Amino acid sequence: MINVIFLGPPGSGKGTQATILANNLEIPTISTGDALRREVENESEIGKMAKGYMTSGQLVPDEVVINIIKNRITQEDCSNGFIVDGFPRNISQAKSFDQMLKTVNRKIDIVFNFEVNDDILVKRISGRFSCKECGALYNRYFKTLKKEGVCDSCNSSQFLNRADDNENTVKSRLEVFHGFNGDLTKYYKKNNLLYSIDAVQSVPFVSERLIEISKKFLSLNNN
Ligand code: AP5
Repeated sequence: MINVIFLGPPGSGKGTQATILANNLEIPTISTGDALRREVENESEIGKMAKGYMTSGQLVPDEVVINIIKNRITQEDCSNGFIVDGFPRNISQAKSFDQMLKTVNRKIDIVFNFEVNDDILVKRISGRFSCKECGALYNRYFKTLKKEGVCDSCNSSQFLNRADDNENTVKSRLEVFHGFNGDLTKYYKKNNLLYSIDAVQSVPFVSERLIEISKKFLSLNNN
């Protein structure tokens, strides 16, 4: 069992690395951002409410994301652990998460803090696009398609850009991130859970480090 949190600014590679680590450890990824985007796409009540916050780069109210997490972590596929990407975003969410986990006799084992400077983030976000069919993630500058116009994974020719990946929203998202992340990293550092990750490095370099730390934890704690 291993329960992992990914903290880090927009564009730092959390989603990219969550997919790789989840495959390696055979546990699911829970992304509040992806869950909220699905609600927006389905035009649900939650989606209608969340849309304004997301397009302006602000945090969606705590109770909404806390409920998403609460419903998800108790599902069967999380019984060997999970990777949470994009939650918690502030101390209040972190404390609620701890309480929630206590009620199901679980705890956080590792918090990876992805560190990348803002200039690189802006380039990563402005270059990001994904496959409309399978969701595979690409980047105009850093991870291009092997064959122009065709998804490497599923051969689809349809791609998407995220609505919140425009210049103004990215600025707000970074401001929000910098406003909350200091307290959050202090909170997890105090509990000896925090691992700083140099996420400027290449995708394979970063994933190797995440896998190494996670496997070490598993070997020491799960026989
Ligand atoms: P969310 O979807 O969580 O977005 P985010 O945190 O802003 O992070 P991103 O998804 O933009 O980036 P990422 O770190 O996953 O990077 P990626 O791997 O894609 O949240 C969106 C919104 O939802 C929030 O603004 C908020 O409104 C709401 N929300 C979500 N959670 C919430 C919560 N808990 N509370 C309240 N509101 C919440 O990589 C980016 C690009 O870089 C890709 O193109 C990738 O190919 C490339 N790349 C990745 N790694 C590398 C590398 N090492 N080198 C070069 N390129 C790389």
